[in-house]
Amino acid sequence: MAWDVRPTTNLEEFVDAVGAISHYFGSERDLERAERFAKVLPLERMHGAFDGDRIVGGAGAFPFQLTVPGGTVACGGVTVVGVLPTHRRRGVLTAMMRAQLEDIRDRGEPIAALWASEEVIYRRFGYGLASYVGEIELASEYSGLRQAPESGASARLITLEEAKALVPPVYDRVRAVTPGMFERTKEWWELRNLADPPERRQGGGVKNALLVELEGEPVGYALYRFHMKFEQGAAAGHVAVIEALADGPVATRELWRVLLDMDWKAKLQADLLPIDHPLQHQLSYPRRMRMRIGDGLWVRLVDVGAALSARAHGGDGPVVLEVADSFLPENAGRWRLAGGTAERTEDDPDLALDVGELGSTYLGGFTFAELVRAGVVRELKEGGAARADAVFLTAAPKPWCPEIF
Ligand SMILES: CC(C)(COP(=O)(O)OP(=O)(O)OC[C@H]1O[C@@H](n2cnc3c(N)ncnc32)[C@H](O)[C@@H]1OP(=O)(O)O)[C@@H](O)C(=O)NCCC(=O)NCCS
Repeated sequence: MAWDVRPTTNLEEFVDAVGAISHYFGSERDLERAERFAKVLPLERMHGAFDGDRIVGGAGAFPFQLTVPGGTVACGGVTVVGVLPTHRRRGVLTAMMRAQLEDIRDRGEPIAALWASEEVIYRRFGYGLASYVGEIELASEYSGLRQAPESGASARLITLEEAKALVPPVYDRVRAVTPGMFERTKEWWELRNLADPPERRQGGGVKNALLVELEGEPVGYALYRFHMKFEQGAAAGHVAVIEALADGPVATRELWRVLLDMDWKAKLQADLLPIDHPLQHQLSYPRRMRMRIGDGLWVRLVDVGAALSARAHGGDGPVVLEVADSFLPENAGRWRLAGGTAERTEDDPDLALDVGELGSTYLGGFTFAELVRAGVVRELKEGGAARADAVFLTAAPKPWCPEIF
């Protein structure tokens, strides 16, 4: 069956299209909440799938600017994807993904990115795993740092209201150099990061904001909650770090010193951390971090030529990639990367790969050599993977997205 998929045009349609995923969250239909959400997700960026006049599925795309190696790229930030249980496995998602990717391409956004609820869903639509995140649980008795406190560092608690002015500049400095991070608007900060509705506290206390300064200048911040608990007279609760970002090594160390030193916790928990987190080198007992790695962003090159040209190239090439793309066949073919740009070519390819594997390498999270070793990229000329890696590898840190959208 061909489903009628189109952008929502009014709040009623918007709330019903978002309602497909809200069903699984167990949320009530709420026009006021939808109105707030529409401040960050414009109505025309929310697709609904219609069965007659009823909406049975939805898929949205935030208009993001995403940091990639060497700059930022317009990106469809795919979100609130859902199909009602009454209409599963009848091609509704497939129809929505097609309409959405075509819309993203027509808007001139060369890439799309998302967090996947299940890792099996999006590869068929051309997405590739592009970054990891780490989750840690650090017992208080092992939370000491190797280096002494910095004399010019100080920390203070600020209100969420004060955070609106003090925190975004720090985020922006880190974002500018970290592939995988996206620009947050004022509305995004207010609605998402610095809001604290009781229903999102997950058994914890209020959201706290902490600012770290070096010589009086804000250089790091953390948002965190106490999950207070005592057992047999001893602290058994934890501090949950929601987001902790700092600009530079000293700022990072002093920010985490305050978090790790807190009383009334048996452990500190943090997820959505970069997997090359400096703490691994700053802690006295790094093994005790017990970092568990999971998938982060999935990236889809929607317009392969534009996407490849938009990202920095570490070497001049040339290298020729034979790209397969069954879902958006206009991307398929040979692409020659040379002198910082990508163009179609008839030259013999160095590597053959699916567009999803290109998504995996796009932010610098994985190398072509790794993917050849995994048997998911084919090396057609000797040294092809090394040549492609020389073009793709830059000095950027590992890609990291600190927030699930
Ligand atoms: C995941 C979800 C959106 C899939 O929607 P759907 O309309 O059933 O998907 P489609 O019918 O278009 O399926 C397309 C293909 O993907 C497969 N697929 C889709 N979701 C899958 C899943 N969770 N596990 C395994 N396979 C899946 C289908 O079997 C189908 O394969 P086929 O083409 O070989 O037959 C829907 O089940 C849902 O809303 N789940 C709960 C919410 C959720 O996880 N949303 C995603 C948020 S990131």
